[in-house]
Amino acid sequence: MESIFDNITELPNSGIQERTKSLIGFDKKFDRIFSNLKLLLDQEGLVAWSKKFHKTELPIIGQLKEKYPLIILAGDAGTGKTVSAEAIADRMVRELNKEGFFLKLSTRVRGEGLHGQMGNLVNDAFAELKKQAGKRRVAFLLIDEADAIASTRSTLQMHQEEKAAVNTLIQKIDEMRELQGRAILFMSTNRLHFIDEAIIRRASIILEFDRPDKEERMQLFEKSLTGFALKINELEELAELTGPERNNGLGFSFSDIRLRVLPEAIAASYPTHGLTYKTIKDVMFKIKPSPKIV
Ligand SMILES: Nc1ncnc2c1ncn2[C@@H]1O[C@H](COP(=O)(O)OP(=O)(O)OP(=O)(O)O)[C@@H](O)[C@H]1O
Ligand SMILES: [Mg+2]
Repeated sequence: MESIFDNITELPNSGIQERTKSLIGFDKKFDRIFSNLKLLLDQEGLVAWSKKFHKTELPIIGQLKEKYPLIILAGDAGTGKTVSAEAIADRMVRELNKEGFFLKLSTRVRGEGLHGQMGNLVNDAFAELKKQAGKRRVAFLLIDEADAIASTRSTLQMHQEEKAAVNTLIQKIDEMRELQGRAILFMSTNRLHFIDEAIIRRASIILEFDRPDKEERMQLFEKSLTGFALKINELEELAELTGPERNNGLGFSFSDIRLRVLPEAIAASYPTHGLTYKTIKDVMFKIKPSPKIV
């Protein structure tokens, strides 16, 4: 199985929990997903709720099983789709007081799979997902950069094998419903318009990810530099300089700031002197926001 998955993480996981704390705007995203998915995850609770308040099991309760356990994470590069998938899974098992597994489909194998193996790969991945899902255990599968595997079947260039793989994927998403909330599928993409319509239709929720706004950029600098006494007007200036107004209409992404600007500022200082506000600013002028993916 090792070859199909990049990693298999047991949940809850303290490393993921720790990383989640550094994510800006996470709670809001999580609440939205959780309030949507709890209808799927807690059938017994729903039956009890219905009997308590309506003296009967409303038909809709049973029909909720027809919902698909699919979450699509869509948005530009570096906006947190991949980190959030793990973070959501971790928080979800904590809220439900359960254990879980997080499986990430390997992109490497998918590359090889392009020559007709994709359908088998999808089959194997879902077989493993089903195996991992148990009564007290929720199994999560992340298909990252899903446009590579789930692109719309209507394009003419698409090979027969690739179309077959998309069909298999749809069929597997349908079958996942039998697991009644014990397995959840995440698909991330920065090209939502490439994803097959039948898959989009099945998504229980499409979560949109954006580049940070000014307030979020300020929080990002503050969270990453806690202990380095930045004044409020300096934080504000950093947020402004990384915003769309100062960068031809496209601001810095979360990862541009956290994985490029700040590391470069550190590199320019370490080991001879400490970080200064000026160093951060100088580095920032040399770096451009990553281009938008269309
Ligand atoms: N909400 C956030 N708050 C703070 N940092 C964030 C946030 N979202 C993303 N980051 C930072 O950006 C980095 C990149 O995030 P991630 O890899 O999840 O982006 P992505 O949307 O999956 O991008 P891609 O489409 O290129 O795969 C993370 O490692 C993290 O440091
Ligand atoms: Mg990603």
